[in-house]
Amino acid sequence: MNKNALFELSYGVYVLSSWDEGRPVGCIANSAMQITSSPMTVAVSVNRKNHTHACIEDTGRFAVTVLKETTDPKLIGTFGFRSSKDTDKFSLFPYSVRGKLPVLDAGLAYMSCRVVAKWETATHTVFLGEVYDCDLIGKGAPMTYAYYHEVLKGKTSVNAPTYRAEREHKPQDRARYVCTVCGYEYDGDVPFEELPGDWKCPLCGVGKEKFEKR
Ligand SMILES: Cc1cc2nc3c(=O)[nH]c(=O)nc-3n(C[C@H](O)[C@H](O)[C@H](O)COP(=O)(O)O)c2cc1C
Repeated sequence: MNKNALFELSYGVYVLSSWDEGRPVGCIANSAMQITSSPMTVAVSVNRKNHTHACIEDTGRFAVTVLKETTDPKLIGTFGFRSSKDTDKFSLFPYSVRGKLPVLDAGLAYMSCRVVAKWETATHTVFLGEVYDCDLIGKGAPMTYAYYHEVLKGKTSVNAPTYRAEREHKPQDRARYVCTVCGYEYDGDVPFEELPGDWKCPLCGVGKEKFEKR
């Protein structure tokens, strides 16, 4: 069995959002898909360790915001590698309440959903949501999971349903420097050691000191 077969599945990159007692919360998800058109439903797979999971359970609602290719990578770093338990993610990026749910203004489109069914797996809950409001809010190309990985050099969080140790790395003639917060691997032309002291991870925004030599 060649598990790399699963890397050939295609996805988008989305923000799932909900409320925590009036506070907006959310996380990145690649697992969102339309299930039926009448009624209009979408399904998302959410790790039970994510704070957003508890908030979707409590409110019975979630919004899916479709991200654009031009999305600031720091938004993905913040929503995909930090928890709403201790970070007020929506205070860092502008949002509006649409369909009674917090939706990032940087999005291309959103769907506001009411949970109508759920299915428990070993690690994730699959929520089926009926769409009660949706609209286009921006212009541009939707970000695909492949674009996120290949162009932005983004990594997948351990809580994503698609997570597993990355494919084998090709041998390199210089040391690898990997962000311990989001997994971004530095691949710039300037050697890592020569980057200025105020250089920041382009994905999650932490400083050089959070990078590990491997
Ligand atoms: C590219 C990417 C895809 C992700 N996909 C999912 C997903 O489909 N489902 C999920 O539960 N978590 C997914 N995650 C992980 C969550 O976004 C992450 O655990 C987040 O920090 C949870 O935040 P929260 O505690 O505020 O909910 C993904 C992360 C990244 C970077």
